[in-house]
Amino acid sequence: MRISSLRALEILDSRGNPTLMVKCVLEDGSVGVARVPSGASTGKNEAVELRDGDKRYKGKGVLNALRNVEDEIAKALVGKDAYNQIAVDRLLINLDGTPHKSRLGANAILGVSLAVAHAAANSLKIPLYRYLGGVAAKTLPVPLMNFINGGKHADNNLDIQEFMITPKGIKRFKDRVRAGSEIYHTLKGILKGRGLSTGLGDEGGFAPNLHSHREALDLLVEAIEKAGYKLGHEIYLSLDVAASELYDAEGEVYRFEGREMGREELLRVYEDYINSYPIVSIEDPFSEEDPEGWRLITREFGHRIMIVGDDLYTTDPKMIAKGIEEGYSNAVLIKPNQIGTLTETLEAVEITHKAGWKSVISHRSGETEDTTIADLAVATNSGWIKTGAVARGERTAKYNRLLEIEEELSI
Ligand code: PGA
Ligand code: ZN
Repeated sequence: MRISSLRALEILDSRGNPTLMVKCVLEDGSVGVARVPSGASTGKNEAVELRDGDKRYKGKGVLNALRNVEDEIAKALVGKDAYNQIAVDRLLINLDGTPHKSRLGANAILGVSLAVAHAAANSLKIPLYRYLGGVAAKTLPVPLMNFINGGKHADNNLDIQEFMITPKGIKRFKDRVRAGSEIYHTLKGILKGRGLSTGLGDEGGFAPNLHSHREALDLLVEAIEKAGYKLGHEIYLSLDVAASELYDAEGEVYRFEGREMGREELLRVYEDYINSYPIVSIEDPFSEEDPEGWRLITREFGHRIMIVGDDLYTTDPKMIAKGIEEGYSNAVLIKPNQIGTLTETLEAVEITHKAGWKSVISHRSGETEDTTIADLAVATNSGWIKTGAVARGERTAKYNRLLEIEEELSI
């Protein structure tokens, strides 16, 4: 089924910054649309978002990426078989020719890669999760729901970027969503009652100023119990420290709760959290530039919780392979726009699962109404998804898509 046209549009993401929407039309008239997300706490080795750097949109315009889709990429892809995703993605990678997709832009490349997959699935009249995962696609993921935002995603005083709850002990996806919503609103009531801010961070979680990170964890515990759920049986906790943002590579110290800490001291902070709360995972506990920290925490706590690498791997199969060899972690965060094509994203999940590690399919802090990652989570049977709070349209779009998929799968 040949590709007949590729068009792009400069649209807005959830932070009000421009991003790309790509539309792919096939010869049978089938259409596929994808919208590209954008991160704020990015890893050093992420594929490169092409931004215009001129006056428009404070330099963040994506008209060059748009032109690359409609000119160079369209020229190369029109007439090619949309059912052959691997060939499409290989062509995109070779056409760009740079290690981090900086020439054509990973935003342009990912938009095309995903739009082609959507068009192919629509042409075959099957949902995307079925197209990508075949009859094996069946697992609704456990969501890691980000209810308190800090770090680069909020203007409050919390260093840790994400404080999450996870309804791991609840079976149906729709009951997981319901629990999340009830706990989210209970938390809002608690914050309000204490005169704390109920303003939101970038991923839809609350962003109050607090005295300590333990206070944030205590607030989650209180909300879970007050909402009538069993802590450590139905609902668990999870963190994304995004520690690359806190690291001073020269001094080999982390800026944490108003002072500087070495990796061993930070490890003891995590030990205290793990022993005090039912924590299932800690993402980016150490900087991508501090491999020793990763080895230490995985050796000591890897048998108890998931140690999730985000900035450390940037969804790059080669970096994940190195992590597996070195024992850096036991789980990998998967963000399609960190690597730039669907094929490489699927390879990243495959190598992760083959090692017996867990994958977590993830959104970005700058999102759109695109729901591709919901289908991707089911298609890969990942078991986990991270897609923010249970509020704000760009986050609920993914939860709502998963509710729809659960309904379809349980017929
Ligand atoms: P980002 O944050 O999209 O700003 O990178 C998400 C994360 O760190 O997991
Ligand atoms: Zn992260």
